[in-house]
Amino acid sequence: EREIAFGLENLAFPRDLIAKRLEESLDTLGISDLRHRQLHELSGGEKQKVAIASVLALHPEVLILDEPTSELDPKSAEEVLSLAQRLNDELGITVILIEHRLDRVIQHVDRLVVLDRGRVVADGATRDVLSKSYQEISEAGVGMPPIIKLAHKLGEKGITPNKTPLTVKEGRIMLEEVLQKASPNWLEPAQRDNGKPVAEVEKLWHVYPDGPAALKNVSLKLGEGEFIAIMGRNASGKTTLVKHFNGLLRPTKGMVMVDGLDTRKATVAELARKVGLVFQNPNDHLFADTVEEEICFALKNLGVENGMVRTRVNQVLEQFKLNEYRRQYPRSLSGGEKQRVALASVLAIQPKILILDEPTRGLEYRLKHELMSFLHEYTSQGNTVILVTHDVETVAEYADRVILLSEGEVVIDGNKRSALSRALLFSPQINRLIQPFHKYGIPGDILTVDELLQTLR
Ligand SMILES: Nc1ncnc2c1ncn2[C@@H]1O[C@H](COP(=O)(O)OP(=O)(O)OP(=O)(O)O)[C@@H](O)[C@H]1O
Ligand SMILES: [Mg+2]
Repeated sequence: EREIAFGLENLAFPRDLIAKRLEESLDTLGISDLRHRQLHELSGGEKQKVAIASVLALHPEVLILDEPTSELDPKSAEEVLSLAQRLNDELGITVILIEHRLDRVIQHVDRLVVLDRGRVVADGATRDVLSKSYQEISEAGVGMPPIIKLAHKLGEKGITPNKTPLTVKEGRIMLEEVLQKASPNWLEPAQRDNGKPVAEVEKLWHVYPDGPAALKNVSLKLGEGEFIAIMGRNASGKTTLVKHFNGLLRPTKGMVMVDGLDTRKATVAELARKVGLVFQNPNDHLFADTVEEEICFALKNLGVENGMVRTRVNQVLEQFKLNEYRRQYPRSLSGGEKQRVALASVLAIQPKILILDEPTRGLEYRLKHELMSFLHEYTSQGNTVILVTHDVETVAEYADRVILLSEGEVVIDGNKRSALSRALLFSPQINRLIQPFHKYGIPGDILTVDELLQTLR
């Protein structure tokens, strides 16, 4: 409440107007239940909603949102974007949205401007830009929404849609035309087996001091070599859960075992050799004066000898394209660069269990793709990767298993194919698109563009 009122008070608005705007913004973002909470205790998504509410309360003429939905679950993201659209439609406010994930925004925006290294490479009405500048946009590192990618790939096969589809509904019209001529055929891909267990969560409860229970009776087994996505609405307990693997949080009740260590007894140093956690907010990581020192720090702490420290540091600097920043002050880098430094510093340790809390926020598509391919490779060496994310498309493409949390409980735990199919909010775009095409022999659990194209071969 104080955070949202602050800007208004600064501008010396009358009290009753402040009260009115406060209510209005709390309601719009659906966060009135948070009004008396401490900011530092909020989940990542809750903080983001408060930030948006505090700007909205000012009723600006131009509203600039810099990746407003990157930490929001699909439903909250949709709400924030619809709200931005309403402000634009009804109040005539100009909205400028900065976004990496086109799939979330294209149905809301009138105009698309693509920047690449400081230059405008495409600018125009959304549909025009997406159909005419596909190449430029891809080269600028922007990820295409699955439906646009599908339209483009069909175009390469000589099937050019009448108009580039922007929504799932328009995508269906396109697919209907295609399927009338094709005869689909689908081979179920082999599923990876769960490896030897490497961590186990047993009847875990976590209750924050004078808060409600953030985790309620969670039980899980994690295997070696698994690529696991943890999903769930904002404040569902994802961050709280993963902080138990490296001892940042200890169970209120129940138990977490990590590679033979009971986290109730193990020290943070012991756990740090086995578990690397990249925080949701990269600022929580960075404290050293240079990027290089930042990465050295944990290695030295673990007693790795100097020669080895140097080799590892050079390796990860190279891997995350950070060489040119090695002597820079980490906190003054861009969001995506900070994210990479944080990742590099954790990966240098080569932890057996690697946990990334929302790592794709702020990462452009190309880097995201490289990161995911790297993580996939990392799991094939027998390491376990846990990805906490709201990014359904990324999960559909790269993860093996999905764990869905809701209000502190595990509600789904299984293969991604069953977990992500036929759900309105947690399904990838292509899965929603293909649902009515059962009659043509398209299976209902297809998740990605490439899978769909395979069936059409
Ligand atoms: N330090 C804390 N003190 C008190 N309550 C907390 C604290 N940290 C988190 N919470 C509360 O615990 C619940 C779960 O929070 P958590 O951060 O685990 O959610 P999350 O699933 O990671 O959400 P998001 O997607 O928004 O990051 C929320 O209601 C949150 O407000
Ligand atoms: Mg979180």
